[in-house]
Amino acid sequence: MSDIRSRIIGTGSCLPKKVVSNKDLEAVVDTTDEWISSRTGISTRCIATSESAVDVASKAADEAIKASGLAPEDIDLVVTGTVTPDMAFPSTSSMVQSRLGLRSGIPALDVSAACSGFLYALDVADKYIRLEDAKNVLVIGVDLFSRVVDWTDRSTCVLFGDGAGAAVLKAESNGNGILSTHMHSDGRHGELLYAPMDIKEHPFSVKDEAKADDNGSKLREPSTLKMRGNEIFKIAVRSMNGAIMEALDSNGLKAEDITLLVPHQANTRIIKAMKDRLDLPDGKIFVNISKYGNTSAASIPIALDEAFREGRIKDGDIVIMVAFGGGLTWGSVAVRW
Ligand code: ACO
Repeated sequence: MSDIRSRIIGTGSCLPKKVVSNKDLEAVVDTTDEWISSRTGISTRCIATSESAVDVASKAADEAIKASGLAPEDIDLVVTGTVTPDMAFPSTSSMVQSRLGLRSGIPALDVSAACSGFLYALDVADKYIRLEDAKNVLVIGVDLFSRVVDWTDRSTCVLFGDGAGAAVLKAESNGNGILSTHMHSDGRHGELLYAPMDIKEHPFSVKDEAKADDNGSKLREPSTLKMRGNEIFKIAVRSMNGAIMEALDSNGLKAEDITLLVPHQANTRIIKAMKDRLDLPDGKIFVNISKYGNTSAASIPIALDEAFREGRIKDGDIVIMVAFGGGLTWGSVAVRW
């Protein structure tokens, strides 16, 4: 393999306009601001009212392309992590390609890995770049979980928000860029966190049968998100710590070499547990969950964009992104910025 690396040269993000506070949720389900803030660290989240997934993804992508200094026609691949697209097809990536006037004929694909979606998308993009099949790649993370949560289930509906984030990667050979990617899945634990498809009946459907497939996966349940939060919590801490250690070990780095850890924003208690295990000071871990809740595949690119715009990431810094989500899926990406 050549010495080509994928350098992040622009970031962007877009949140829907409607801000919903914990107090607002007290009118929707039996909950309190105190419970939500103390158990999760979330104060507000943005909820799409008129915006589509392609609307917010396109705005985040447009911002990232502008920040990169490239022209839309320079992009030669689009990869989007999402599990809440507007359409089963065309893909979100193809729709963004059209909306932003990107070159026709370039490949565009979506990746499904729930909250790990953006890191999986970065991993795919990085491999295209290092195999010299693409030079400039637009990578997007977008999810509108307001579409899939059960708004009568207080244990899940208070946790999630909608949004999109994006990054532009460029092939460079100066030593900076993505140093390593480590992606994982363990489908055996899929039932801890899932959202079924809305499978339609058809003229040959057998009523009240085939409630599960051969693997026991649930079919024809209401298509809302189900989560066993307690069990997920423990696995999330263990898996994300493991993925951070893989990133450090494979690059000969130690925890103190990290300039900024950008974790998936699911719960401040999960983030704190990671911080404690690594013995990282507060300034080395980026946390914005209070404003947006868990935005699934959008959470890391939104955090990355905010961290960069706040001046918390500079050339040469070591940034580690780490994610965990439905699948179960998890992974880390280490970058020399
Ligand atoms: N308001 C008030 N009370 C509530 C609420 C609420 N919104 N939700 C639950 N409760 C109650 C429960 O009913 C329970 O009451 P009980 O003791 O009388 O039975 C009590 O609060 C405690 O509930 P727990 O589920 O034990 O609360 P916990 O402290 O574990 O927090 C949480 C729950 C926030 C979901 C936590 O487990 C968590 O963050 N899990 C990880 C989530 C995650 O990382 N998901 C992966 C990414 S998401 C993705 O990939 C799509």
